[in-house]
Amino acid sequence: MKREPVWVRILDWLNDRLQSNKLSELARKKLVPVHKHSFWYLFGGMALFLFLIQVVTGSLLLIYYRSGPESAFESVKFLVSEVPFGWLVRSVHSWSANLMIAILFVHMFSTFLLKSYRKPRELTWITGVLLLFVSMGMGFTGYLLPWNELAFFATKVGTQIAGVLPFLGDFVMKVLRGGDDVTGATLTRFFGFHVFILPAVLALLLGLHVYLVQLHGMSKPPDVERREEKTGKPCPSVPFFPNFIYRDLIAWIFVLVVLVGLAVLAAWELGVRADPLAPAPAGIMPEWYFVFMFQTLKMFPAHVGPFEGEQLAIVGFILAGLFWMFVPFLDRSSPEGARGKLFTVLGICAIAYIGVMTLVSYLVG
Ligand code: HEM
Repeated sequence: MKREPVWVRILDWLNDRLQSNKLSELARKKLVPVHKHSFWYLFGGMALFLFLIQVVTGSLLLIYYRSGPESAFESVKFLVSEVPFGWLVRSVHSWSANLMIAILFVHMFSTFLLKSYRKPRELTWITGVLLLFVSMGMGFTGYLLPWNELAFFATKVGTQIAGVLPFLGDFVMKVLRGGDDVTGATLTRFFGFHVFILPAVLALLLGLHVYLVQLHGMSKPPDVERREEKTGKPCPSVPFFPNFIYRDLIAWIFVLVVLVGLAVLAAWELGVRADPLAPAPAGIMPEWYFVFMFQTLKMFPAHVGPFEGEQLAIVGFILAGLFWMFVPFLDRSSPEGARGKLFTVLGICAIAYIGVMTLVSYLVG
């Protein structure tokens, strides 16, 4: 009797132990609706792909990175100038962090406008909002790690803004900084947050988010549901495996090409070593995804009645963040109703506000 090739026997052996055919059966059973908005289903997968790239490149960076104000900058300098492809790994890590956040914004606003947060996906939405906040926290803490001048002063400004918070401000600022000022203690804390605490929280939230997506399947946008009701015909769908996964793969290849293109053609700069005693250079700006808040703080009047302007703006952002997180409970009515339409307008206003404030900041300063 002819024996199967070795690799087929190894696969059979693994399949027996892991029961992986059950997983592929499940993926075949999961159906993805096909309609004119299906394109937006690709963005969650792209974010997932970039997250995996972050984990791999971040682990590689850890082999050379040495935390501490005396060693951090030098270790990154050694990595980018002496270690083969060290510059590329660092550049891919930094660019994919930025691309991931950009894609998360697209994913968030597309799921918002398609009203995917409606029952039973309230928790999918809430875990998503938390994922965005934690990802922004990853960006904020990672930015300081090379201990270069720009990052040092941006962190000083960023933590100072947290300090303006009413009642808790001083406490939050000291917890973030590990003292009164940005020092080596801040770097140690940020390193702990960036490589352990926040990734652990992110992994937990991500597990829950993806589990909920599998559990509830993909939502159908309101206009597709309406058409189904009107015609009595269900919207066509394709199995997640193998049909939809091919589309995901094409999107991932596209993201990879853009990422490598950016990382090679616009290699991430290291700048100069931070000197805590030097004056702050002109035009210090936070990472682009914080710029709309930074610009709002700059444009807010110093005093509004008995309140300090900055405090009021920060409280406003916290309330807006909470409001955004609880949208599924506030917009429960039919999407065609007045409230449903109001929420769509709110989403468009939020996109316009973030876009305009960011543009104003980069153009006018
Ligand atoms: C690391 C961050 C994230 C990852 C890796 C991720 C991943 C995914 C994936 C793979 C899907 C299924 C495909 C799709 O609809 O795109 C999905 C669906 C969803 N995500 Fe995310 N997501 C993240 C963040 C967010 C954020 C920031 C939000 C919104 C605040 C969000 C809200 C949703 C919702 C509501 C769905 C269900 C969509 C539907 O059923 O049509 N996610 N996510």
